[in-house]
Amino acid sequence: NQLAQQHGKLWLGTAADIPGTNESTDAGYMEIVTNEKIFGQLTPANMMKFQYTEPEQNVFNYSGGDYILDLAERDHQRVRCHNLVWVDELSPFVTNTNWTAAQLTAIMKTHILNVVTHWSDRCYSWDVVNEALNGDGTFSSSVWYDTIGPEYFYQAYEFATEAVRRTGKDIKLYYNDYGLENPGTKTTAAYNLVKELQKRKSRIDGVGLESHFEVGATPSLADQNAAKKGFLALGINVAVTELDVRFTAEPYYTPAGLAQQAQDYYTSVQSCMTVWDFDDKYSWVPSTFPGQGAADIYNATLQRKPAYYAIAEAIEGK
Ligand code: G3I
Repeated sequence: NQLAQQHGKLWLGTAADIPGTNESTDAGYMEIVTNEKIFGQLTPANMMKFQYTEPEQNVFNYSGGDYILDLAERDHQRVRCHNLVWVDELSPFVTNTNWTAAQLTAIMKTHILNVVTHWSDRCYSWDVVNEALNGDGTFSSSVWYDTIGPEYFYQAYEFATEAVRRTGKDIKLYYNDYGLENPGTKTTAAYNLVKELQKRKSRIDGVGLESHFEVGATPSLADQNAAKKGFLALGINVAVTELDVRFTAEPYYTPAGLAQQAQDYYTSVQSCMTVWDFDDKYSWVPSTFPGQGAADIYNATLQRKPAYYAIAEAIEGK
């Protein structure tokens, strides 16, 4: 992060799944995550999601998010807040009842207005809707889409725009998804969502390109630049929000494999960039993709990998 700032880039950040996890009591982990010279930005991997912030209807719990915000503010790190409307990590009251479209829209509105106004500009930005699209560019199934239809997407931004207006602060609103890192059907669908939000005069400041890649199969620099250009042409920002590059099979730590991974990280460096977990020790990858892993820039004993130095070189333009 220090290098990024010296070179006029904006920041290097990381996701962190604290508090309440093993990470919180791991001194080596906490030393890295709180070091503003390494990370100038944090994203709570889970603690601001629906099931944590509104576990029961109209009962809000801000303690997990506060923990991250307090930590980040102490260390002069900005926080990308994540996320308001998603298919996953919802509270049982949302998913266990057959709500009508009007009822569920009201639930979404209450959630967005409360959470966004509560944290106000302690959040640099919000991922308002997360992962709304299938690979073919259609809306993906979720309680939101299945109950409300496509309007849920636009309403989420309408409510978030209203929430930001109520704070009187400058809080950036993002759409965040994977598969938008190169040109294609899904990326074009995302351009169209942005255009429609702009037409409706909702606030949309940027798109988050998650960038969960595989070693040796990362989109080329030309493709990444082309996709990014398409979003920039709409007058919005682009951030790499969840970068990691996983091995799809063992062995994870051969010199050749690590060199390829470093190259993949190098190709993906952009000026506002967040890695999703920074260490192979606590990464989300092995539990979601059994037999895969080592996706991060520190290994399982928190030593820096070639990918760490590749990011530094990319920032320095070497
Ligand atoms: O809350 C329970 C806790 O009570 C229990 O003790 C513990 C035992 O394993 O599990 C805890 O819940 C886990 C939660 O993370 C908090 O650690 C869930 O089982 C686990 O499924 C959940 O995984 C998160 C995942 O989103 C959920 O889909 C990952 O940490 C998080 O990194 C991941 O992040 C997503 C982004 O939000 C969106 N983009 C993709 C990315 C990777 O999947």
